[in-house]
Amino acid sequence: MPTTSEVPDRQRQVEDELVRKVLASFEQTPDPRLKQLMQALVRHLHAFLREVRLSQDEWQYAIDFLTATGHITTEHRQEFVLLSDVLGASMQTININHASDDEATEATVLGPFFVEDSPEIPLGGDMAADAPGEPCWVEGTVTDTDGNPVPGARLEVWEADEDGLYDVQYDDGHLAGRAHLYTDDQGNYTFWGLTPTPYPIPHDGPVGHLLDKTARSPMRASHLHFKATAPGLRTLVTHIFVDGDQMLDSDAVFGVKRSLVKRFDRQPGGTLTPDGRELGGQSWSRVRFDIVLPKTS
Ligand code: BEZ
Ligand code: FE
Repeated sequence: MPTTSEVPDRQRQVEDELVRKVLASFEQTPDPRLKQLMQALVRHLHAFLREVRLSQDEWQYAIDFLTATGHITTEHRQEFVLLSDVLGASMQTININHASDDEATEATVLGPFFVEDSPEIPLGGDMAADAPGEPCWVEGTVTDTDGNPVPGARLEVWEADEDGLYDVQYDDGHLAGRAHLYTDDQGNYTFWGLTPTPYPIPHDGPVGHLLDKTARSPMRASHLHFKATAPGLRTLVTHIFVDGDQMLDSDAVFGVKRSLVKRFDRQPGGTLTPDGRELGGQSWSRVRFDIVLPKTS
């Protein structure tokens, strides 16, 4: 297969001509944004095909891969989102739309395990329910970028148990490891969760096969998900990660940002808990996460 630079002039002209024709076919698109998107897509797609001198078998393989990605996708499993995640496309779209800002808390991927209408817990309540794992006391504040506390901010929190499973992956589908709560009058919040542990993204489908073929790990760095909403402020979807976690530099979906890596202080069994909760000699951890939300513009 020749490289692009070795393509004879006549051949190059044939390929250039096709790109021109396809671009021209979108020229009359009434919506200017759609026109921009389609023409840029055509330019980049053809540049890719020509750069790698794609074989017809490889193109068919790609079609079969996307077909399989569609076939495994259901209401509960979104393989295309997973594909976007492992290609870094989800994270890049977040980067583009949340300009790096020293003041506001950084965003990261939503992931496929968020569920609307989680149970409400009071401040200091336990979102883990009966999910197995080491208890973790989570505390923090929600403020705006001027430092004003945000009372009544809604926090959705969800995480995998110590076996790496979200409740939606349990056979009986019962709820655990997810809840929502509201900040108090001073913008403070506290709750009990679980010390996060690493787990693999679903890897028994086409995306898992791709990771396998490319010697990539399906493991995500240990994390706890947050979604914070408050009137007049920009909604934040993010996680916090565990300082010292082995997977911080190899997160399968490129979701780790330095500012989101937090110290989870491990407490030996028998250490008094902040709210007097009795843990029967079990070890626990604690972490602080202060959330800063920018105003909606
Ligand atoms: C998650 O953190 O839950 C997740 C994110 C992206 C892909 C798979 C899982
Ligand atoms: Fe997750």
